[in-house]
Amino acid sequence: MSDKYYITTPIYYPSDKLHIGHAYCTTAADSLARFHRQLGQDVMFLTGTDEHGQKIEKIAHEKGMEPQEYVDGIVEGIKHLWELMNISYDDFIRTTEPRHMDTVQKIFQKLYDQGDIYKGVYESWYCTPCESFWTDQQLVDGKCPDCGREVTRLKEDAYFFRASKYAPKLIEYIESHPHFIQPESRRNEMMNNFLLPGLEDLCVSRSSFKWGIPVPFDGDHVMYVWLDALSNYISALGYMSDDDSLFEKYWPADLHLVGKEIVRFHTITWPTILMALGEDLPKRVYGHGWLTLQGGKMSKSKGNVVDPEILVGRYGADAVRYFLMREAPLGNDLLFSNELLIGAINADLANDLGNLLSRTVAMIEKYFDGVIPADEAPDPEVDGVLVEMSEAIPSMLERKYADLKISEALEETWQFISAMNKYIDTTAPWVLAKDPDKKERLASVLYHLAEGLRVVSVAIQSVMPETAAKMAAQLGVDTEELQSFESIRIFGAPIAGRHVRKGEALFPRLDLEAELAALEELRSSRQEKAPEPQPEKKPKQKKQTKQLEPPSQISIDDFQKVALRTGVVLESKVLEGSDKLLVSQVKMGDETRQIVSGIREAVSPEDLVGKTVIVAANLKPAKLRGTLSEGMLLAVGEGKDTKLLTADAPDGLLVK
Ligand code: MSP
Repeated sequence: MSDKYYITTPIYYPSDKLHIGHAYCTTAADSLARFHRQLGQDVMFLTGTDEHGQKIEKIAHEKGMEPQEYVDGIVEGIKHLWELMNISYDDFIRTTEPRHMDTVQKIFQKLYDQGDIYKGVYESWYCTPCESFWTDQQLVDGKCPDCGREVTRLKEDAYFFRASKYAPKLIEYIESHPHFIQPESRRNEMMNNFLLPGLEDLCVSRSSFKWGIPVPFDGDHVMYVWLDALSNYISALGYMSDDDSLFEKYWPADLHLVGKEIVRFHTITWPTILMALGEDLPKRVYGHGWLTLQGGKMSKSKGNVVDPEILVGRYGADAVRYFLMREAPLGNDLLFSNELLIGAINADLANDLGNLLSRTVAMIEKYFDGVIPADEAPDPEVDGVLVEMSEAIPSMLERKYADLKISEALEETWQFISAMNKYIDTTAPWVLAKDPDKKERLASVLYHLAEGLRVVSVAIQSVMPETAAKMAAQLGVDTEELQSFESIRIFGAPIAGRHVRKGEALFPRLDLEAELAALEELRSSRQEKAPEPQPEKKPKQKKQTKQLEPPSQISIDDFQKVALRTGVVLESKVLEGSDKLLVSQVKMGDETRQIVSGIREAVSPEDLVGKTVIVAANLKPAKLRGTLSEGMLLAVGEGKDTKLLTADAPDGLLVK
């Protein structure tokens, strides 16, 4: 095991409302960082904010602010959220800081000097009113997907990075380093969808807006935001600065933990840049799943975001952290609901863990005046089960955390907690207490419970730091030595004689109905107070024009990722203020979706009602002219010649 551990989260877009989905990635990274610190490694945990780009510039100007002023106001809120969630980052990098901008300019210059960046022409569709670039695929019926208006073909000078030159080397690297991209499904996706079909050079500059890092030798251009953003992982370490000692010490990163939708930038764009710079690649990039709600991914545009501040304020950071880490494996999507959260708090935290601690402390107070007794009359058969399980915990944690299986680490820790609860039932200390001859056995039982709980407190430290500290305080074992990871390798620490201190319940039991009502009230009062909503996020891919052309062939697995369903149109009307768009309510089985389509010129709303259409049903929802569209109707042809595809089949069926 190396003695350093460098872990990063993505740097977040400055948004005035980070939701619990954002907190998911940071919590996982924090739990890993804390665990590696527990192991005694020199940990560097980096997070930060990604503050440049046209979008930010536009929002700031709409608010009558300078972009810098706007982002400064928001970053504090993000830091505050991380404080509430107990995120123990070692450094927080902002891409508007000089230390970052200097490094990125040096990187750009070096790549240009060595011929890996060259000047060319960038071509794409452009919507003048929206100031947006679009690819062929993003256009809706040949029109701007945001406003439905005509687009023009735009050509502008731009700088390109020779990503294609490094593709063969990257393919070889990925093939010979099976752990580089994880989970495995993401590795296959990157290879099959992006690398093997052929990687194109990447456009790395823009001249149509100003809010970015200037290209050092060409004042008309600012850098492409992903080149800017990805470099944070080394600019924070002083790369190419006068003092690059941190870079020498911590690079390559041990883990870039990122959401699954940005794995591509981290495993293709970033490695090709690093290869061009002659630097090592990160050891591992892990694409975690999304936090979803019934009905899809949590997102601001859907208005279904869950505010972490409300949950942390009401239940504490540890309950939220526990739920996020326990509920699903990191690579999978995780379904969030208040019911599930409250259920886990009641069952796992209040009942299994909280009760075990309060009963143990209460019995030590009652039978031994609050002093942890010694293991005076061990019963190897009965106690042995606990001892064995306990001693397996440290190596189990090391294995699980190495594989990023935090959820399984918690699950196994909870098996030990359950075993202790059973141990209380089997040994029945209240019966032993009635018989003076059994006092020594009673002492042993309570010693085992106290020691077992101490082990638990160390085992959960990385996910639930506050709870671990409260448990240690109640058990009177809160010294550094008794809270160290090494101290739980062998069961039987010298804790006899320590004074327990009854404290508040770790997690009071919650009344489900009352809690749901209270959360709803908090949510609506927050919404009333919330600052005016930000304009919607546009699809991030739009800047990747060159890479987004569809491959000439795709596998059946890729095809199956697209859910096409039959749907019957219940209602349809012209979208107010638009002569191109219709808004329709489309029923697909039990679900009715609102879909905006640019087919008005060819189809009248009256004709559409009652038709069975084919819907691209798992497209990310988008807003067209400010109206939510939760899918797309399939059609052929352009403008007046558009023909809608219909089906002679019941609604809600999957097209295969
Ligand atoms: N700025 C880029 C990252 C640049 S890294 C060099 C970005 N920012 S983001 O704010 O949009 O997202 C930050 C992280 O939050 C991403 O890893 C993203 O996957 C994660 N999440 C955003 N919504 C999420 C969920 N609903 N669930 C889980 N994670 C989600 O992308």
